[in-house]
Amino acid sequence: MTTPAQAPVPASVPLDLENIQGDILSGLPKKTQFYIFFDVTDTKKFREDLNKFIPLIKTVEGVLKDRDAIKDHKKKKLPGLVHIVGVNIAFSHKGFVKLGIDDTTLGGVEDPFVIGQKQDAITNLGDPKKADGNPDWDSHFLQEIHGVILISGESHGSIRKTKYEIEHIFGVHSPHASIKEIVTLQGDVRPGDESGHEHFGFLDGISNPVVNGFDTVINPGPKTVDPGVVVTGHTGDITQRADWATDGSFLVFRYLFQHVPEFNDFLKKNPIAKDGDGKVLTPEEGSDLLGARMVGRWKSGAPIDITPFKDDPALGTDPKRNNDFAFAGEISSQLRCPFAAHVRKTNPRDDLEVPPPPTPPIAIEGRRIMRRGVQFGPEVTREEAHTAKTQHGRGLLFACYQTSIVNGFQFLQQSWANNEKFPPFTGRPEAPGLDPLIGQGDRAMSGLDPLNEQTVIGMPAFIIPRGGEYFFSPSLKGLKSTIASSA
Ligand code: HEM
Repeated sequence: MTTPAQAPVPASVPLDLENIQGDILSGLPKKTQFYIFFDVTDTKKFREDLNKFIPLIKTVEGVLKDRDAIKDHKKKKLPGLVHIVGVNIAFSHKGFVKLGIDDTTLGGVEDPFVIGQKQDAITNLGDPKKADGNPDWDSHFLQEIHGVILISGESHGSIRKTKYEIEHIFGVHSPHASIKEIVTLQGDVRPGDESGHEHFGFLDGISNPVVNGFDTVINPGPKTVDPGVVVTGHTGDITQRADWATDGSFLVFRYLFQHVPEFNDFLKKNPIAKDGDGKVLTPEEGSDLLGARMVGRWKSGAPIDITPFKDDPALGTDPKRNNDFAFAGEISSQLRCPFAAHVRKTNPRDDLEVPPPPTPPIAIEGRRIMRRGVQFGPEVTREEAHTAKTQHGRGLLFACYQTSIVNGFQFLQQSWANNEKFPPFTGRPEAPGLDPLIGQGDRAMSGLDPLNEQTVIGMPAFIIPRGGEYFFSPSLKGLKSTIASSA
């Protein structure tokens, strides 16, 4: 599965980087970010107002320029951060219905995009439910949501200013508002050395698909993917789209709370006694190894498939080496990496070299998702650490892009993370268990103790889904030609 330093592959139809919203392929640069969830209250006015909003949108081309400006700023060792703001927009199926837009080429009646995430959470994702049958979510996400506006930037001041500008365009504080804000969530990259690390402390955002026809730097790692895995209307997109619906992508948003003090307490109370070579570990080493085996990477980002029993921070941050593994030669072993480790569950690499029957062989490249997302909530307080109990909400505003939610996010969550029998190895008595981070159900997994691979260890939920929705992030041409009014 891994290929050493592949050469860039051109897309059969070149990607129009000025037509694709920036977050999809290049990720809006951010220290801080708003997700503004809204309802359309006046359809006609909204479609007119949209014409004034569209010029604010940052395209992929715009993000590439921003990234050059950031590089230049760093090279010149200038003080502070470059002032950068990026705005994107996406709509739910209910939003398109409200706007009177025919979105039939985005998905059939049973498509998760069409049924919406609330229903999908009940039927397929396994989110905990309340007595009334609804998912146990923040109430904002139980109501109809028509769209989301993303604002990213280098400072709170910058994104707040842009938010005012956008509220002005849609007349939010006037009697003639065309949208109503349902809720605005703010995410912030963690401070200091924790920057780039999610709240449990693990470096994130390392492994994303490398896209043919877009990426020019291709480091050793999983095979590159066709552009149509991420951008609609290109090679690899499995659905025929209306013209306005090409150059877009489906945005999956999940509001995920993390119980960090409880997670740390679990690691502390269950240290692994000996590493796979039989070396006796200190309690601290044993706890670190346990965490690394749950994730599949050390906190530094170093993959345990490469360095199973000792962290290697230099490897963790080296893009030429930190994604160059495939669980090769371990098809029936979890000595180096448990089958259910989060990164093995969500990208099983060589584990699926030969897809098991009777599943139709969708190549693993067709299941890759482009992860974005940002942390929210404060750092753990002393009191929380001391009591091992969460008192302040924190977690991940999880976001990912793909051209098929069925083959991407939904499949990863339902058929991999929540499925104790995945990956499907024959000849072993123990099941892999659930993904210890995101698996929904009775969370337990084997393989945590490298010398007792068959031992199954149970654990509480450390990540709690509290909301979300499925959106489609259209192209600039689609927005102008079909969604905004042609006034
Ligand atoms: C709070 C929730 C989550 C946390 C803390 C978390 C944490 C992490 C970490 C630390 C990594 C390793 C860094 C990297 O490879 O980039 C990772 C990778 C990944 N995660 Fe998550 N994750 C979360 C939710 C999810 C969800 C909901 C999904 C999808 C259903 C997901 C899918 C993935 C994928 C596809 C990878 C890359 C695997 C690879 O290519 O090796 N994650 N995650």
